[in-house]
Amino acid sequence: MQYSEKVMEHFMNPRNVGEIEDASGIGEVGNAKCGDIMRIYLDIENEIIRDVKFKTFGCGSAIASSSMATEMVKGKTIHEALEVTNKAVAQALDGLPPVKMHCSVLAEQAIKAALIDYAQKNNIHIPELDGVVIDDDHDHHHDIEEEE
Ligand code: FES
Repeated sequence: MQYSEKVMEHFMNPRNVGEIEDASGIGEVGNAKCGDIMRIYLDIENEIIRDVKFKTFGCGSAIASSSMATEMVKGKTIHEALEVTNKAVAQALDGLPPVKMHCSVLAEQAIKAALIDYAQKNNIHIPELDGVVIDDDHDHHHDIEEEE
């Protein structure tokens, strides 16, 4: 399997690893097939993501995807962060092997889950998140949809 230099670089030197105390929103997602788990912490003020950290118990591609995704949403508005799709993350990493695309899906879902958590905690309605269902109960069997 061939990984891009960017994937390797973000895997070896992941950005934004850690947690945020009193985070505005926390999102945790998992993939039942591989058992990998990703947690993302957001610090939001005035609709701006001021800080973001992640903890990923997972494969190298999941770690590289978390690292890249956190870089892509840092300093952005909530609206801009919602445009960070798994495809955008994979593209920013100069691609992922097809069997590893689901790892970037985890990153997109973790960000969305954290934003849903933020919205719920603050009684805010984020229209883009209407109908987005995040299954964070990774002890049960489920599949996260993989986009080609
Ligand atoms: Fe599951 Fe990468 S193999 S997240």
